[in-house]
Amino acid sequence: MKTYKIALLPGDGIGRDVTAAAKAVLEKVAARNGFSFAVSSYPWSCDYYLEHGSMMPANGIETLRSFDAILLGAVGWPRKVPDSVSLHGLLLPIRKAFVQYANIRPHRLLPGVQGPLRSENFDILCIRENTEGEYSGAGGRVHQGTDSEVAVETSVFTRKGVERILRFGFEQARARRGKLASVTKSNAQKYSMVFWDEITQRLSAEYSDVEVTSYHIDAMAARMVMAPDSLDVVVASNLFGDILTDLGAAIQGGLGFAASANINPNRSAPSMFEPVHGSAPDIAHLGIANPIAAIWSGAMMLEHLGETAAAGKVMAAIEATTARGIGSIPGKDKTDAITSSVLSALD
Ligand code: IPM
Ligand code: MN
Repeated sequence: MKTYKIALLPGDGIGRDVTAAAKAVLEKVAARNGFSFAVSSYPWSCDYYLEHGSMMPANGIETLRSFDAILLGAVGWPRKVPDSVSLHGLLLPIRKAFVQYANIRPHRLLPGVQGPLRSENFDILCIRENTEGEYSGAGGRVHQGTDSEVAVETSVFTRKGVERILRFGFEQARARRGKLASVTKSNAQKYSMVFWDEITQRLSAEYSDVEVTSYHIDAMAARMVMAPDSLDVVVASNLFGDILTDLGAAIQGGLGFAASANINPNRSAPSMFEPVHGSAPDIAHLGIANPIAAIWSGAMMLEHLGETAAAGKVMAAIEATTARGIGSIPGKDKTDAITSSVLSALD
């Protein structure tokens, strides 16, 4: 029997509740489909930081490297540890170290979920560059604490980085409805974003079956609200993708439904699967977090591992649950009730 080695990083706040739900669903579907998981859980989090002075041990990355995949809940608890410390100590280094350059986030309405828009027929796949751009971490502060203080933070766009995420976008579009929207702000940012547009143009010759359109980020924000059904695959830089995917979460009914996968496409290191929502300190440990985004992320993990049939069964169980009105209305059902419903829908 095939056994997949999974590193579980529940992290902070509701990350713990929702990863427990996802783990239960994944283990059940595995048992039904002739494979299993060997799950190792690590307590790396803001609590861990308060005890040990770091978000993960010095060999954390090397520890994770031997796994087939990583399932992560959420990182951050700003009252305990500044977000700039906790995120740069755990989530962001994993994305970079494991070259998880494609952050994939599907945005569509699950059955029974009421979105805020009139349009209900959109099915968007956002692909966010996940290792460089505005998140490169190149910069510094000088004259700190004086009135001459200067802060510089430079976006870094490499040919390799831009080309590989665009190719990934073209491939995804080719496998879906054949439309790619490439998002920049090249009317204002004349170096990095013009560079991105040029590479989009050049690659389009190789993917003549894909219809590619370049949009500015501001226009894309409006389009995602006004005409979301006109979109198929959307590819954007790290920060632009971050912002657009919270908008995507909003139009799909809320962050409780927004799943994501941090993918290393050439599989030289593990990929990581996590719901888009954060640790939500205000509702942590109340048992009311919606586990659907985490369970859906688990389905994306199954897909990545090649367990396509099991992934389809998990998606069908999620959809059967929301279609019955369970977990479909934010705040209505408890975490356990939603999880139980997904588990029994697997039967
Ligand atoms: C996300 C999150 C992270 C990001 C934060 C927590 C650093 O907002 O995954 O979208 O900006 O990438
Ligand atoms: Mn975000």
